[in-house]
Amino acid sequence: MTKIFAHRGFSAQYPENTMKAFEEAEKAKADGIEIDIQMTKDGEVVIIHDEKVDRTTNGSGYVQELSYKDIRSLNAGHRFKHIGKETIPTLIELFDWMQDNTITCNIEMKNNKIPYKGMEEKTIELIRKYGFENRIIFSSFNHYSLVLSYRIAPEIETAPLLSDGIYQPWIYANAICAKGFHPNYKRIDQEIIKSSEEKNIKVRAYTVNNLKTMKALMNQGISAIITDEPILAREVLTQQ
Ligand code: G3P
Ligand code: CA
Repeated sequence: MTKIFAHRGFSAQYPENTMKAFEEAEKAKADGIEIDIQMTKDGEVVIIHDEKVDRTTNGSGYVQELSYKDIRSLNAGHRFKHIGKETIPTLIELFDWMQDNTITCNIEMKNNKIPYKGMEEKTIELIRKYGFENRIIFSSFNHYSLVLSYRIAPEIETAPLLSDGIYQPWIYANAICAKGFHPNYKRIDQEIIKSSEEKNIKVRAYTVNNLKTMKALMNQGISAIITDEPILAREVLTQQ
């Protein structure tokens, strides 16, 4: 059955990449959450999509130029009037919460623009500390980073993000030791899904928010969809 991953948490209704959005995704019965990580000046792995804090918080500047203390003082929920202060979570905070549930976590390493030194090692160290090797899927637009992660921790699944269509993506995924790939849903078709899934290469498409597309992909046997709308996705899946 198709799995549902809440993109940046339940981001259609709550501030993206915050604990609130993750908690609400779990309540909405998402199988997993998709998160984005960056690193602070003092080496803390934090959960935020952009390289800068400007769009999602009341602060400004690059994450890599701010200390964890600076980051902690920002409000990531200020655009949501009905929600109180939400801090930018650390990976540790997320993992603490994950100890009380069974949710899967797709960690997107946002190191395709800024190559954060030591991000893979630090993240893997934490995953191992919590024993979450089987609950994490690494993805990234930086495929070198995924190969590095695999070399350090072959027990943790990886999946390249593919924004453009490529020829026989299941072969590419296999060649870089990935167990799946995460394509833009506009770049795949029934044949790609079938060929990949038959070869046990999982397809998890992003970012699927439209009911018709959800239905079509689920009917085609896709492994997972990554969506801002986990409630809608669960409804569609239940009606299949
Ligand atoms: O996981 C896929 C998707 O999150 C990649 O795009 O920009 O939302 O991180 P973006
Ligand atoms: Ca992402």
